[in-house]
Amino acid sequence: MATATLNTDHDYFTDHAVLLDPYDYFERLRAQGPVCPMPGRDILLVTGFQESLDVLLNARDFSSWLNPDPLTPLPFVIESDDISDQLASHPSSEMELLVSYDGNRHAAARALLNPLFVPSRLKENAAFMRSYAEGMVRDIVARGGCELVGEVATPFVTMVIADLLGVPAEDREAFRALIDAAPPPGNMDAGDEGQSIHPLLAMAGYFARYVAERRAQPQDDVMTEMATATYPDGSTPDAMEVVKSAMFLFAAGQDTSAKLIGNALRRLAEDQPMQQLLRDDPSKIGPFLEEVLRIEGSTKATFRIAARDTKIGDIAVPAGQRLVVSLSAANRDPRRWENPTDFVIGRPRIKEHLAFGRGAHTCAGAQLARAEVAVLLECLLAATSAITLDEAHHGPADARRIAYEPSYIIRGLAELHLKVE
Ligand code: HEM
Repeated sequence: MATATLNTDHDYFTDHAVLLDPYDYFERLRAQGPVCPMPGRDILLVTGFQESLDVLLNARDFSSWLNPDPLTPLPFVIESDDISDQLASHPSSEMELLVSYDGNRHAAARALLNPLFVPSRLKENAAFMRSYAEGMVRDIVARGGCELVGEVATPFVTMVIADLLGVPAEDREAFRALIDAAPPPGNMDAGDEGQSIHPLLAMAGYFARYVAERRAQPQDDVMTEMATATYPDGSTPDAMEVVKSAMFLFAAGQDTSAKLIGNALRRLAEDQPMQQLLRDDPSKIGPFLEEVLRIEGSTKATFRIAARDTKIGDIAVPAGQRLVVSLSAANRDPRRWENPTDFVIGRPRIKEHLAFGRGAHTCAGAQLARAEVAVLLECLLAATSAITLDEAHHGPADARRIAYEPSYIIRGLAELHLKVE
């Protein structure tokens, strides 16, 4: 695998300047081509929109085995131009999750989530979202402001997933506490990169009990539907597979959604005319959010490894080649998006952005994520006449202090202090 090294000392995974603000880095490398070697790494970076699609839609040649840690060493030696069997027979980590599965195994595991994402379940969940958001907004207004990311967005989205899964009311606060204690995935300052998995292990205990109870004594609830769901071939999954699917929803849908709320609110807090536009016409919240997802989606990148010798367009990619598919860069590719750094509500075909990925692994919670963020924004806008950044924390307009999470996966604010009127 020969990859030339650019003359630069920036590293995507460890350099704080890049972790905190990846966009310049992506643009600098885009100039080398839509698929180019990552400086200092034996990794290809995909920044092109079409090239990202080519990879994401080709799940046969591009395995998800590396997710969520693209630096995981291969536990075998590459000795042929097709390593698909080797990948399939070696787990990528002890805590392998849906997002790293391939092929039939992936399709079967994903089918276990089907009971959750049916319209009737999403409708019930939407009712919960609204009442929970209203309560949180009442509290924010009473206090005249909040730290949005930790105090509001994270507990809000955690409780929404707990509700979606039918976690019993008496356990929900324990779930919230576990998630609150975890750093976001890929946070390079967290010390132990795998640390974000630990709360999930703790939650696994709860889910193992729910699944065992529901299998022994089915009830009329969504947890029973999940516990008794069968694979497309009619077989019954191992209880641990059901547990892992449920836990993965927290891993996949918590930071991503909470950070999207932060990214959206920062933009609104710094753009009063835009804020007023949405307050006056809530039907614009949806299109506004799509543009936030495009220009500052909360998932910067996903990772793949070539399962066999293959190509992206005309570019040859050898078996075993690691890839960082930068969803953020694809969403700012000037060949696809006119004036990509301009924030424009109502771009044609905006929903083609890649913030939720594409193909076999496309985000299962995209509809839910859109709904929960929109509801929270709608409630906040309806209950206020102005939302502004708290300058005691973030400094004045000409000297802002805004901290992003140093993560190679997530694009989002560490904190966002708001004042509301
Ligand atoms: C703004 C919020 C969110 C963003 C930006 C986001 C983004 C993504 C992306 C980019 C992927 C694809 C990963 C890949 O191709 O390797 C993904 C997968 C996934 N997401 Fe989300 N997500 C969000 C919220 C949620 C929520 C709320 C849930 C569930 C409640 C969820 C559940 C999932 C699942 C289950 C997958 C894995 C699908 C698979 O591997 O088949 N996501 N998400």
